[in-house]
Amino acid sequence: MKPRDPRIVDLLNEALTFELTIVNTYFLNARMLDNWGFPKLGTAFYELSIDEMKDCDSLIQRVLMFDGHPNVQRLGHIAIGESAEEILRLALASEVAAIAQFNAAAQECHDLGDHGTASVFEEMVRDEEEHGDWFEAQLEALTQIGVAGYLAQQVDVSTVP
Ligand SMILES: [Fe+2]
Ligand SMILES: [Fe+2]
Repeated sequence: MKPRDPRIVDLLNEALTFELTIVNTYFLNARMLDNWGFPKLGTAFYELSIDEMKDCDSLIQRVLMFDGHPNVQRLGHIAIGESAEEILRLALASEVAAIAQFNAAAQECHDLGDHGTASVFEEMVRDEEEHGDWFEAQLEALTQIGVAGYLAQQVDVSTVP
């Protein structure tokens, strides 16, 4: 079926670019953290990258439903942290940016009369809020315990390959 306005497909594709960028970032972060010896935090990033991939899936399916072309070629800037703390700060910033972008997209969909697509964006906003809250909690724990104490909890010597 056709969208109410061609702009709807553009909004979905812009969100897809954002999500694909985050999938790649979190996936790389997961493997970097594993490689540094922090497999617990690495696993959390791995699971988050899969979560964001599911967002990509919903966006791709909705673009196809509107007979549009999902753009999987485009990626945004991938910001790679140089420490676990920097990775957490960058991840929180990306969730905050996602919330702003998807809230704006939902509003634009409502203005165009497409409440169905608006609700897809609204659901994604709630997911990103939960992710942002989780990153905030990690940074708070890190501040209260100290970096060394926090990172000591991320080590798992039982996971011998
Ligand atoms: Fe997402
Ligand atoms: Fe997220």
